[in-house]
Amino acid sequence: MSNTGIKKTTMRAWAINAYGGPERMRLVELPVPPEPGPRDVLIRMHGAEVGDWDALVREREWPMERPFPLVLGLAGAGTVAAVGREVTGFAESDSVYAYSYPLYHNGAWADYMLVPASYVAGALASLELTRAGGVPIVGLTAHETLTDILGVHQGDVVLITAAAGGVGHLAVQIATGLGAHVVATASRRNHDFVRALGAETVIDYTAEDVVAAIRTLYPDGVDKALNGVGGETANQGVHTLRDGGRMVDLTGSASVVRPGVRVDTEYVVRADADRLAGVARMIDDGRLTLEIHEVFPFERAPDALEVVQARHTHGAKSCSRSRSNIGQTESMAQTDGGGPSNENGYCFYTKSRKGGATTQRRESRRLYKKAKNSVTTVPFSLDSL
Ligand SMILES: NC(=O)c1ccc[n+]([C@@H]2O[C@H](COP(=O)([O-])OP(=O)(O)OC[C@H]3O[C@@H](n4cnc5c(N)ncnc54)[C@H](OP(=O)(O)O)[C@@H]3O)[C@@H](O)[C@H]2O)c1
Repeated sequence: MSNTGIKKTTMRAWAINAYGGPERMRLVELPVPPEPGPRDVLIRMHGAEVGDWDALVREREWPMERPFPLVLGLAGAGTVAAVGREVTGFAESDSVYAYSYPLYHNGAWADYMLVPASYVAGALASLELTRAGGVPIVGLTAHETLTDILGVHQGDVVLITAAAGGVGHLAVQIATGLGAHVVATASRRNHDFVRALGAETVIDYTAEDVVAAIRTLYPDGVDKALNGVGGETANQGVHTLRDGGRMVDLTGSASVVRPGVRVDTEYVVRADADRLAGVARMIDDGRLTLEIHEVFPFERAPDALEVVQARHTHGAKSCSRSRSNIGQTESMAQTDGGGPSNENGYCFYTKSRKGGATTQRRESRRLYKKAKNSVTTVPFSLDSL
């Protein structure tokens, strides 16, 4: 099938032309990806996930092996704009989300993203698409590590660090659902939140010795740990394990060697459409609750990344009004570039917590009502309503 529904030849994208710091990110006009190959899906993006991994890509700490301009962002949600002739599971206008790793064509911080159908899952019925954009990486990571790698089961004692974070808040819920006793770390202000997700014990890592606190409760140590914090915290996680225990260190920074325990530092979340669909079902049927820290307009993607990198995502959720001002895009040379697009803005997500979904929806509606009064200001997709 061709890109019949797409009239534009170019799209907005946050891209880099060289690896480096935040100053490398540019909002540019690039050609809309080519027609999908036989097994590909072209997605019109509505929301994209933001995580500190995006900075790793930008700096080439996590190489993507794609030519410049390299469009940032690895995951998000949107609607199918076109499908390849051999794709059977999706049709135009379907709501979907995807995690593109290895990065197939361009990244998710763009109006369109081209991916293989094997990266794509039907989007959540219970979440507006912009919110769904915040699910793929954190959802896949929490689910795969706890189920397939750590094999968490009934009665396990599981440590989850950064429990109020993107991966952590889903991991607490999944581990609890598997019947585990969850010991979580979080700042004091997040304790009620993490308890409400199912954690039995929450340790204030800013005020307590985490290893000592855990050894007081569980003298033999915990059975399993999922660590989402680098440096010394990762090493502390190793010391909380019982003999024979196992930890996945998402940051890959644990360096302490302890015979008798197993520490995975090489884990990289895989694109897995079936698992994505499973996470979607868990959210739809209420087994998982997704918290979004803040929604950013497309134009402020670098701000979203900056907030995520501060590693304490919290605070009221808001989606500020901003113009989808095509005049703000810059040119970034590419062989088949064209004229400007007129796509409206959509929201970026940083995942994580504070403020309930109700607050989020109320705020979205309030902003939408304001936005409706102005034809030139549509900061988020109407699908968010
Ligand atoms: N290897 C992979 O494939 C993979 C996949 C996904 C994620 N990751 C990595 O996993 C890590 C977690 O990702 P994320 O997106 O969940 O992070 P995130 O949402 O940015 O985490 C923010 C949370 O970190 C907590 N935090 C900060 N310092 C802490 C400390 N010393 N001890 C305990 N908690 C602390 C904060 O808690 P408070 O606000 O309560 O202080 C905050 O809630 C990141 O490094 C990410 O790159 C790796």
